[in-house]
Amino acid sequence: MESVMKGFIVTGTDTDVGKTVFAAGLAQALRAAYWKPVQAGLEDETDSQKVARLAPDAEVLPEAFRFRTPCSPHHAALVDGTEVQDSYLHLPASDRPLVVEGAGGLMVPWRQDLLGADVFQRWDLPVIVCARTTLGTINHTLLTLNAMTTYDLELAGIVLIGDEEPVAEKAIADFGGGPIIGRLPFLDPLDAQTLAEAFAQNIKLDLLDG
Ligand SMILES: Nc1ncnc2c1ncn2[C@@H]1O[C@H](COP(=O)(O)OP(=O)(O)O)[C@@H](O)[C@H]1O
Ligand SMILES: [Mg+2]
Repeated sequence: MESVMKGFIVTGTDTDVGKTVFAAGLAQALRAAYWKPVQAGLEDETDSQKVARLAPDAEVLPEAFRFRTPCSPHHAALVDGTEVQDSYLHLPASDRPLVVEGAGGLMVPWRQDLLGADVFQRWDLPVIVCARTTLGTINHTLLTLNAMTTYDLELAGIVLIGDEEPVAEKAIADFGGGPIIGRLPFLDPLDAQTLAEAFAQNIKLDLLDG
């Protein structure tokens, strides 16, 4: 890790893989500032609300964009009659390390002419990739890591989320080209305390590159 840690972008192979839960664990462990630049979907608990609940010692910064519909940001913005503007896509200033959570995965459109990966490229932060352990994850993870190379994004590490799956883990380790920093199991109950304990037990932040 850098001596002065600027923070990390947390992305994943897909939506619903557990990025927000992992980001909450990371933000709590680092006493970081969490930032969700684009929130699509306001009816259920938002990602920022979830992080505030699961990471009591993190600072939750306001989102740059909030759209009502839970779908790809480019379309969610359209439904609300607006679009993502570059002038708001700057990393917020904070005296804490930043934990930035994107929307879905790297190749999700934030605007008709802009993918998540394009935005991440502008931000000089190493990226943590969250991946499921279930069937299909080897392909999804390696595709994501491949896209990171294409977009010249710096890989900090890979996190697995779910039940133990040694075959997938080994394949991702063998082909992935970056450290697997641990596996966060499914927690029941999931709350600030169980997350902090599981995070401390299972996630090795000292393995992070970048
Ligand atoms: N480690 C975990 N233990 C228990 N539930 C989890 C865990 N990770 C994710 N979940 C649950 O799975 C769902 C998707 O997780 P979330 O972190 O919101 O995914 P993403 O941010 O990738 O869309 C949520 O209901 C969340 O509470
Ligand atoms: Mg999320």
